[in-house]
Amino acid sequence: MTEKMLSKARCYEREKRSEAESLWPVYHLTGGAGWINDPNGFAFYHGEAHLFFQYYPYDVCWGPMHWGHAKTKDFIHWDLLPAALAPDRDYDRDGCFSGGALEMPDGRHLLLYTGVRKEERDDGSKAVFQTQCVAVGDGINYEKVSSNPVIGADLLPEGGSTADFRDPKIWWEDGFCYAVIANRNRENKGEVLLFRSTDGLQWDLLGVPLSCKEESGPMWECPDLFSLSGKDVLLHSALGMRPSGMEFHPGNGTECHIGSFDRKLCIFTEEAIHAIDYGLDFYAPQTLLTPDGRRVLIAWMQNWDSSGYPPDQLPFFGQMTFPRELRIENNRLCQWPVREIEAYRTDPVIVKDFPVREENNIPGIHGRVLDLSLRIRPSEEELYHCFTVKLACKDGFYTEISCYPEKGTMRIDRTRCGFPRDIAHVREFRVSFRSGEISFRLLLDRYSFEVFVNGGEQAASSTLYTPLSADEIFFSSDREVLLTAEQYNLNGTCREETQ
Ligand code: FRU
Repeated sequence: MTEKMLSKARCYEREKRSEAESLWPVYHLTGGAGWINDPNGFAFYHGEAHLFFQYYPYDVCWGPMHWGHAKTKDFIHWDLLPAALAPDRDYDRDGCFSGGALEMPDGRHLLLYTGVRKEERDDGSKAVFQTQCVAVGDGINYEKVSSNPVIGADLLPEGGSTADFRDPKIWWEDGFCYAVIANRNRENKGEVLLFRSTDGLQWDLLGVPLSCKEESGPMWECPDLFSLSGKDVLLHSALGMRPSGMEFHPGNGTECHIGSFDRKLCIFTEEAIHAIDYGLDFYAPQTLLTPDGRRVLIAWMQNWDSSGYPPDQLPFFGQMTFPRELRIENNRLCQWPVREIEAYRTDPVIVKDFPVREENNIPGIHGRVLDLSLRIRPSEEELYHCFTVKLACKDGFYTEISCYPEKGTMRIDRTRCGFPRDIAHVREFRVSFRSGEISFRLLLDRYSFEVFVNGGEQAASSTLYTPLSADEIFFSSDREVLLTAEQYNLNGTCREETQ
């Protein structure tokens, strides 16, 4: 029974992936076929970055969660590997939820994931049990250990929910293995628990580094904790957030807490908090540390609120963001596309100080698979009110990115990208202008765009539903500006590894 479920998934995905391959995004990871959500187990193993993901191979909607699997040498070119986990044991029979991975001292690959089990109570209602479980393997095949679950309800703080206890992220530090895990506490608020182990199998609860104070909801999913640029950073994805100014929108959002983590007292002292990404589609980010010391983040480029509308024509749904190098500047988490992308850039088009006013295109600037950097500066004494770039345009389809120097904001609007429903399609967020000047980098890949503003001070990610033939780009401004543009085509692609 056990191996049957996984081998069925492996056979199915092999066939479906080869049918779908020509439709995949060019340099963003998808599951190849079926549904994906959160990135899981993002970590180096034997010199390569492995990424697992929440995965339902059989349909383009969420279903009993498996773990899909991919690996990469350079964050651009991904090899899709056979599915790693299926929900085939009693303790995970309702899903193998999100988790982490690490390389063991003996060379094995350890996965810590959340096993979900539902039980019917006498009154017919369902009780949910989430526990943390281990599978150990060689980078392709994984075996669930006999001592599962390795972290159960007995290790929860008093009043902690057994139904909302999930998403371990694990790492090695000073000879110990640590895990941050999300929990809903006795006050019905999200919090992050810290556990420690020597072998990944036996765990102790160390404490509660941080709990939700107000707006950010009853559950802090997918936590991550790491040090960066002399600070400590705690990331999580919140359910049911209340909106707050232009920083947080209602529903599912992400938060970055920057401060210091007292490892002895197990207390995180916060100095700053902000959203991680200001676009429409970004959730459940996870980070890894590269062998050369870079902290790299990847996220599910979707949001639960928009995830019920898979595009008709595609046999897969869900993709990851482009991996981003992180740094902290002025107590802000800054994100920038990993430098490996530069090796894949071809066909440069460089335009300097091109005057922009009436809506127009610029010779050579167009496409749907691009790395495009733009710098805008005013050329008239009176400041422009609004500069707009329209991308993926044709036959009435377009998506706009607009800059408002007086308000100090940027606005993305995909209302006319071909999305079939009237859900949120617009976000406006704060950015800084220096005497009206702003720069941003745009990664465009078939069904998505990601914007990185002023060297990465803000990032905004969104999916697109526009037909691929819509590849024109237009610029306009209500007063003349000078535009400097640098455009590259990108030629990396996913490929399936035959095991
Ligand atoms: C976040 C999440 C996790 C959970 C997983 C289930 O998107 O809800 O908390 O483990 O997705 O697929």
